[in-house]
Amino acid sequence: FSNFLTDKFERQHTYLRISLTEKCNLRCTYCMPAEGVDLTPSHKLLSTKEIVHLAKLFVSQGVNKIRLTGGEPTVRKDLVDLIGELGKLKQYGLQTIAITSNGIALKRKLPELVKNGLNLLNISLDTLDPLKFELITRRKGLERVIESIDQGIALGLRPLKLNCVVVRGVNDQEVLDFIEMTRTKAVDVRFIEYMPFDGNKWNKQKLVSFNELLDNIRNKYDVAKLPDDAHDTSKAYQVPGYIGQFGFITSMTDHFCGTCNRLRITADGNLKVCLFGNAEVSLRDLLRGNVPDNQLLEIIGAAVKNKKKQHADSVNCTDRIEQLLSIKVSWYKKM
Ligand code: GTP
Ligand code: 5AD
Ligand code: SF4
Repeated sequence: FSNFLTDKFERQHTYLRISLTEKCNLRCTYCMPAEGVDLTPSHKLLSTKEIVHLAKLFVSQGVNKIRLTGGEPTVRKDLVDLIGELGKLKQYGLQTIAITSNGIALKRKLPELVKNGLNLLNISLDTLDPLKFELITRRKGLERVIESIDQGIALGLRPLKLNCVVVRGVNDQEVLDFIEMTRTKAVDVRFIEYMPFDGNKWNKQKLVSFNELLDNIRNKYDVAKLPDDAHDTSKAYQVPGYIGQFGFITSMTDHFCGTCNRLRITADGNLKVCLFGNAEVSLRDLLRGNVPDNQLLEIIGAAVKNKKKQHADSVNCTDRIEQLLSIKVSWYKKM
């Protein structure tokens, strides 16, 4: 395995997340302020050619999974072609092409995306109530999201994961409805602990911890623990006999940095070695300066070697939250 992508703590980075755009067709309250945000001018964003160049370089060093994120990745006009180009990297060791989408504009594109190589799909869905959907996302569209989910299932994308960010007083009362959904739908619902990002008005009262949620679920359901994969962000569970499953992404109360295998490239072409880190290296500028691949790798390797052991150093959860609050990762860099 490539030395360039192994860090000081022996973590091998085989998973690359690439943000395709800073734009989004929703305005989720936990994600961005109502007034929106300043976007990077488009000439400073990576072109498809540059993305493919970098993807190829990372795959040559052992990356076997690429997840496309945003903003909302389907907003990018050339998504189908881009996935087609990434699909060609499967002959060089890339195994998984994944996307995280809000599902608003996904349904129609899905068959072609799958044909071009997409084989894993995560969809954000925080509520099953159309009015609440509008309250959370500041837009309409729950029906379209559900249709995208069903299309994904019909196309055989498994496991199809749903991302449900739980915010107290907003959607925490719906958790049992989501569990009920797993009775008949082949989805993996992941309840996500609300994380603080710059400007998202996070506060401790709004955080519903994994422990609290699991207790609530156990009050009504018989619950079985399922095995987790080595690099999973979520802890997996199931109601015995149900088709789907559920899980928890516990970034706040029980982080998973020790098994982290992820690197990130932001839409404007910066390498980010940690979600909660603002240390970035502009791969875009290096590419545009015609820096050769071997030098690019040296620079990428140096950044990976500098990756911190965990996103916040404190062992104590309360102190760690304080540390996270002070980091201030901007909304479109939390990909
Ligand atoms: P897979 O494991 O590939 O299915 O993806 P994922 O669940 O990690 O990614 P997804 O894009 O679906 O994001 C789900 C939630 O996990 C979001 O709230 C992300 O912010 C969070 N998340 C994703 N990657 C990381 C990470 O590296 N660290 C932390 N702390 N949270 C992450
Ligand atoms: N805390 C936790 N998860 C978040 N996401 C967006 N903002 C936050 C936050 N503040 C999730 C979205 C999406 C995924 C990419 O990140 O729900 O599914
Ligand atoms: Fe990895 Fe950073 Fe996420 Fe921790 S916070 S799991 S180190 S990306």
